[in-house]
Amino acid sequence: MSVVQPGVLSPVPAMACAIRFVCRPGVSAHPLLDVLRETSVGDDVVGLGRTLVGALGAGPPGLRDFPQVENARVGLPAKPGALWLLLRGVDRGELLHRRRAWVARLSPTLDVDEVLETFMYADGRDLTGYVDGTENPTDGDAVAAAVVSGVSDQLDGSTFVAVQRWQHDLDGFERRSPAQRDDIFGRRAADNEEFDSAPESAHVKRAAQESFEPEAFMVRRSMPWADTDAAGLLFIAYGSSFDAFEAVLSRMVGAEDGVVDGLFQFTRPVDGAYYWCPPVDASGKLDLRALKTK
Ligand code: HEM
Repeated sequence: MSVVQPGVLSPVPAMACAIRFVCRPGVSAHPLLDVLRETSVGDDVVGLGRTLVGALGAGPPGLRDFPQVENARVGLPAKPGALWLLLRGVDRGELLHRRRAWVARLSPTLDVDEVLETFMYADGRDLTGYVDGTENPTDGDAVAAAVVSGVSDQLDGSTFVAVQRWQHDLDGFERRSPAQRDDIFGRRAADNEEFDSAPESAHVKRAAQESFEPEAFMVRRSMPWADTDAAGLLFIAYGSSFDAFEAVLSRMVGAEDGVVDGLFQFTRPVDGAYYWCPPVDASGKLDLRALKTK
């Protein structure tokens, strides 16, 4: 029986490298199948996008394009990729060499579109200083939220990942008073507690997983990123489908009631993509039986 890729449910690592690949124009994607089937994923996470799955044949029905939310009050850019790789580790040099090995394996078929190095900040905080991940489901609840089960032998153990890079205006954020910052999140920076007087736009009020019908639980493993002149959060959420992510996202962008999430006061998404992470077999190799190849 195949199981979920180990890196999916593991805690956020000290550092990671997220790589988005696109299909190499004019090259058949089919040789990639053997490469993927023969590679042990270890602690890394591998997701396949619709462009690649479509080029190979047909993928699991749950894999779709990143949504254009109707009635969204803010922009939600999409940037699809053929394959998404999250290399997880503790040593930047070791990650670089692992990246080189993956790129060498995939390069006959795929081109690197973007490499983004991410890192853990303090005890798992967003760069604003707010703890990220507090209300994540854990143990069996995390498995129930993130891993496909009871669908079919081929698909069980899969997960679907939504990936969105957000770019912060940290100077603008820091010009706000501590109370205004807490109102954006609906949690107090000082003690990470939620507070009732937070405005309706407060992020944790918009995103409250139990307030959705059905409940919208997901497993978030977001990580900060920074380069010489910009910084933000690489939002990463795993689900047994994209439904929970889409329910929360729709409310955040004001599609339900016109109230836009307070986060948009200082940050905005600059891309967005969906991937299917196939399960792995007993030797840690990707089980691609759910892929119907042509
Ligand atoms: C820059 C972007 C974002 C930042 C900085 C951010 C930060 C946070 C923080 C600090 C919390 C409170 C602690 C916690 O429970 O983790 C939180 C909660 C949460 N966020 Fe975000 N978030 C971002 C984007 C998103 C997006 C795009 C979604 C989904 C579409 C999302 C879904 C959630 C959920 C489901 C919760 C837990 C709510 C609850 O049940 O209490 N977040 N986020």
